[in-house]
Amino acid sequence: MRYSYLSSAFLLLPAVSAQLNLFARASGKLYFGTATDNPELSDRPYVAQLKNTLDFAQITPSNSMKWFATEPSRGVFNFTGGDEIVRLAKKNKQLVRGHTCAWHSQLADWVEAGNFDKKTLESVLDNHCRTLFPSSSYAWDVVNEPFNEDGTFRETVFYNTIGLSYISTALRAARAADPKAKLYINDYNLEGLSPKSDGMANLVKKLKAERVPIDGIGVQGHLIVGQVPTTIKENFQRFADLGVEVAITELDIRMPLPPTRELLEQQKKDYQTVIAACKAVKKCIGVTIWDWTDKYSWVPGVFEGEGAALPWDENLTKKPAYYGIVDGWKSKTK
Ligand code: XIL
Repeated sequence: MRYSYLSSAFLLLPAVSAQLNLFARASGKLYFGTATDNPELSDRPYVAQLKNTLDFAQITPSNSMKWFATEPSRGVFNFTGGDEIVRLAKKNKQLVRGHTCAWHSQLADWVEAGNFDKKTLESVLDNHCRTLFPSSSYAWDVVNEPFNEDGTFRETVFYNTIGLSYISTALRAARAADPKAKLYINDYNLEGLSPKSDGMANLVKKLKAERVPIDGIGVQGHLIVGQVPTTIKENFQRFADLGVEVAITELDIRMPLPPTRELLEQQKKDYQTVIAACKAVKKCIGVTIWDWTDKYSWVPGVFEGEGAALPWDENLTKKPAYYGIVDGWKSKTK
């Protein structure tokens, strides 16, 4: 009696064989999450999955908290887009990663056109970061993409006008405005050991020594199928050993189009490798994919002839990559 009751109850259960956030949590991580963008929020099947906390416990707005959107003219702030995403996340009990304050790209034109002197630009930057906070985010990519590939600093309007101290100006403003948010510096091609990731490690060491508030290193994770670095775990561990947390903030693994079965299988392995590296490093606290479906990936628009970078295809169907992520979370760590 009892057993037949149990087995029929099991038949009624949905197949909970794989869930990205559940597996992340079971691996001791805080979240698995995804980026999203405001225009996508009118796509109902898309939103239904975005809200699925079994897969996503965290959301990053991929555009609407950037400078061009939040301070389009000096002193005129607009939080409409960012707030829409924060509201959705809050309603679903999902964490938010704010993105981003000090960045050379998608800046508002007036910041460069103003030809501000050092003091003025410092106060413009301070005011921008201070005003973006607090906005109920768990964490913020306060500084984005400050490095060149060789580990030297990118010559942006902030670096050229203010000098390296623009980074501490941004971080201090963020801390003052929202003492609880985790403050990150975020960049791409930081996954493995390289001159660029050396540059990041040295910067964080220096900021720590100077008591500048810095809580985390964001590793974007815009990768290419078949070219995932082999030193991710070592690199994450040396970042963590500096006394900061590490997060994979913008993961996608692109391929030449059209996708073939071989490429999709290699992509599955590549996702598994990246996730297993995060799992193996205690202070790698979470992973965010840069949107979850190929329907809304930024890749085809920027890397000609490439795409299919995400775990769901354009029809919102799971690809092998999805199960690669699950396998990564299930992997044994030493
Ligand atoms: C991308 C967005 O996804 C696109 O929609 C936009 O057109 C360009 O920016 N690194 C970052 C992100 O830090 O902000 C970028 O997002 C992708 C690269």
